[in-house]
Amino acid sequence: MKFFLDTADLKEIEEAASWGCLAGVTTNPSLYAKIGGKLSDFENHIKRICDIVGPDCPVSAESVAMTRDEIIADGRRLAKIAPNVVVKIPTMVEGLAATKVLASEGIPVNMTLCFSVPQAILAARAGARYISPFIGRFDDISEDGLDQVENIVAAISNYDFSDATCNHEQVEIIAASVRSANHVTQCALMGADIATVPFPVLKKLVQHPLTDRGLESFMADWEKVKNA
Ligand code: G3P
Repeated sequence: MKFFLDTADLKEIEEAASWGCLAGVTTNPSLYAKIGGKLSDFENHIKRICDIVGPDCPVSAESVAMTRDEIIADGRRLAKIAPNVVVKIPTMVEGLAATKVLASEGIPVNMTLCFSVPQAILAARAGARYISPFIGRFDDISEDGLDQVENIVAAISNYDFSDATCNHEQVEIIAASVRSANHVTQCALMGADIATVPFPVLKKLVQHPLTDRGLESFMADWEKVKNA
């Protein structure tokens, strides 16, 4: 499983990138609004993220257009920001149609707001390079988001989407709307390719109380060695 950071916060991205295990970044309009982002600075901001993480890390930038022609235009513009930009498009009819066109032009698409197996298969067929099923938002309505991701991972793995009609060699599932370490554990066990996690969750993934306790006793014992 690869780890993406789900944020638009440059400091969080810089910090996570320095840990050496960051494989990508996903943003969305809410995350950009959360950091006080302005429309006029959006493309520069995505460029800054691309510069921080480097060319091997995909950076998802979302189109907020609602018609296929506008989404295609957005996608072409966003893809020019940097070679590692992935155009994030909601799973809806206009989004599928735009994905088909952008994928045929070699522009990678991350289909987001995916909540079902049929949506995921349609996204893959349209040419999505990444598909993002959301976990936490199912949990928010008292349904099991992990079940949905497990079904999507299993269904996508049943088929080969690398044929010419899909315009990509590979489709990867990004478990999104991740709220806890347990979400990550379960997604890894079911074989989700990627988990995109908020920075506070990423920090929690590193921690374990037994690691802290073990470290404390190693440090205390080393003091004894130093004083012996
Ligand atoms: O990547 C999508 C994710 O940001 C949604 O997370 O917590 O707003 O449901 P959340």
